[in-house]
Amino acid sequence: MVSALYPAFRFVIPPEVAEAPTNTVHAGDLAELPPGSGKVFRFGSKPGILVRTATGEVRAFSAICTHLNCTVQFREDMQNIWCACHNGRFDLNGGNIAGPPPRPLERYRVDITDDEIWVTKES
Ligand code: FES
Repeated sequence: MVSALYPAFRFVIPPEVAEAPTNTVHAGDLAELPPGSGKVFRFGSKPGILVRTATGEVRAFSAICTHLNCTVQFREDMQNIWCACHNGRFDLNGGNIAGPPPRPLERYRVDITDDEIWVTKES
């Protein structure tokens, strides 16, 4: 009896799938990101960057420079995002504003829950 049911049971079990790519991560807490600051976080195996504008808005981007893939960083003195490799610069919307980067940084969605900053890649 049991052996007769086995093939049907097997059929309804979904096949094993490869591990899905990370789409949402806890990137940090508001307390560690005062207005006018930024930090790099891990988004799966890739770096992301959080910035908090002077008015307190939190934004998130890929931290991979669109020139030759170096990791960008927040520059408090310039209040923008900077790539040390070839002096590329991005504004706080991720727009490429100086140096060789040809495109803006990829932007991510930010959700804040109980002071926790959650970042989601939507595409
Ligand atoms: S890799 Fe960023 S400016 Fe060249």
